[in-house]
Amino acid sequence: MATIVGSTADINSNLRNNLSLLSPDQVELAKMLVGMGQGHLFDSWPEPGVEDDDKRAFFDQVARLNASYPGGLVSYIKIARELLADSKAGKNPFDGFTPSVPSGEVLSYGEDNFIQFEETGVRQAQDAAFVLVAGGLGERLGYNGIKVALPVESTTGTCFLQHYIESILALQDASCRLEQGARERAIPFVIMTSDDTHSRTLQLLESNAYFGMQPTQVKLLKQEKVACLDDNDARLAVDPHNKYKIQTKPHGHGDVHSLLYSSGLLKTWHDAGLRWVLFFQDTNGLLFKAIPAALGVSATKRYHVNSLAVPRKAKEAIGGITKLTHADGRTMVINVEYNQLDPLLRATGYADGDINSETGYSPFPGNINQLIIELGPYIEELTKTRGAIKEFVNPKYKDSTKTSFKSSTRLECMMQDYPKTLPPTARVGFTVMDSWLAYAPVKNNPEDAAKVPKGNPYHSATSGEMAIYRANSLSLRKAGVQVDDPAEQVFNGQEVEVWPRITWKPKWGTTFAEIKSKVNGSCSIAQKSTMVLKGRNIFLEDLSLDGALIIEAIDDAEVKVGGSVQNKGWAIENVDYRDASVPEEVRIRGFRINKLEQLEKTYSEPGKFSLNP
Ligand code: UTP
Repeated sequence: MATIVGSTADINSNLRNNLSLLSPDQVELAKMLVGMGQGHLFDSWPEPGVEDDDKRAFFDQVARLNASYPGGLVSYIKIARELLADSKAGKNPFDGFTPSVPSGEVLSYGEDNFIQFEETGVRQAQDAAFVLVAGGLGERLGYNGIKVALPVESTTGTCFLQHYIESILALQDASCRLEQGARERAIPFVIMTSDDTHSRTLQLLESNAYFGMQPTQVKLLKQEKVACLDDNDARLAVDPHNKYKIQTKPHGHGDVHSLLYSSGLLKTWHDAGLRWVLFFQDTNGLLFKAIPAALGVSATKRYHVNSLAVPRKAKEAIGGITKLTHADGRTMVINVEYNQLDPLLRATGYADGDINSETGYSPFPGNINQLIIELGPYIEELTKTRGAIKEFVNPKYKDSTKTSFKSSTRLECMMQDYPKTLPPTARVGFTVMDSWLAYAPVKNNPEDAAKVPKGNPYHSATSGEMAIYRANSLSLRKAGVQVDDPAEQVFNGQEVEVWPRITWKPKWGTTFAEIKSKVNGSCSIAQKSTMVLKGRNIFLEDLSLDGALIIEAIDDAEVKVGGSVQNKGWAIENVDYRDASVPEEVRIRGFRINKLEQLEKTYSEPGKFSLNP
């Protein structure tokens, strides 16, 4: 029979009675749990012979929780105790730090330096790997499916995952064309999933032939949840529905670093000569419009970490990128949550707190949680930390004594906290882009979005879709197309600008220079129009569009589209989010597209063509 040497006296008798059921490894785990003050987990265990399989399953879970956390459960519980004590004491994590504005690059779409950075970025893209964090529950959105399966826009119905994959493939192709002679390298694409999203993400990929990517190019890394904590002593919480289970909750997107490290992928990439890792989130349909220039900034400025950012209004509910300098000399450039930035500024000599500068924006750029990290220094750092990210705990206390919680809590970590452990010599910067170009996530359900104070972004499915049309319209305007002003409309209680519904496949234009090269002469697009360009070599020349125009062409077909296109087009019709007869992905945006009339042409043979109706 297995025994627990040395600590038998402390062991809960229920556990002792059951020891004979356990393997030597499980006995070690039991010893560890008891040693860490977790004997209560066995309080209601019956005699051997009763529910033995459940008892073994309990230890399977403990083994998983132990293996998936850097330093194991011992480390988890120790850190939890420290953080819970700090939280109880009301300790400010920024004590001793003074904030200042870090240095970074501020870009304007289509300007000369933007174009240059884009070109540099596209060249670098073939030395990059992309990492999508898609393990979140999306509770605020409340969508029943996985978020990456939602349409980015409903004109084409392309889902986020397809859009991301096609954007990466377009960059891969563009990079290879720019670096003439270079062998096309398949850009690695990692998706971090969780138990909540894993199987549905895999199924979405498999049932769509990986949206054109080689299956070997895509890797899924599943994050594990972490143990919940019942009190300030970090006693692990028993699942209320199963006494043989420890209750678990998501640990946050910061897990991506330890997963990348432990998977061995970073080393494989490094050995293959890659230089960059780009991290992004599940529902920002604009992101890839900002990536080439931001990657160009990383390469030019040799940033170890580059955070993408947008101009931020003071007190806007978005974290600010901030340089923190400690009295003892430590410095870091880090995201400071908006509700922490104002008190921090006030406590450190800025009497007015978080206010706008003469530009009308806060001097602290708004973090959009898109990071570009240089691979070499990243590996060096993770070798030291094993990918562990500084965590936080956010218990909801029952009362001011802060002795008990309303419900169990857990440690959490955020992807953007990676720079917290970097040495002061690390080059950490940011790249600010126009908001319309870079950031329109889909996070909020219609009801909550409608309550967002006027002037603040809704971050809903409605605003996320409208942002695509706006960005494409503004981009074409900058390229010389006369695009009508938008109409104002209200969907699901949200007032939005409705621009012409212009969409294109990423390969039609990955950079401004590419988009501009495909627009010639005098082109105009009326507000009620829809334009869909599915092909790399489609050129607009003296086109006047008032209606719907859909062009699809293979890469070897060069199509010039001009003349006057007029038809009834595709109308936008209101839908109420409470109307259960309408599919959820339509309802949550508050409108559907009614395809009344269109000019639709497909070019499936190589050659040169001209469409001039
Ligand atoms: P969000 O802040 O959107 O969180 O995550 P969420 O959990 O998806 O949604 P809410 O807060 O419940 O409404 C930002 C990104 O991080 C990923 C999400 O999938 C999203 O891409 N994420 C979040 C993870 O990958 N794992 C997590 O544990 C949490």
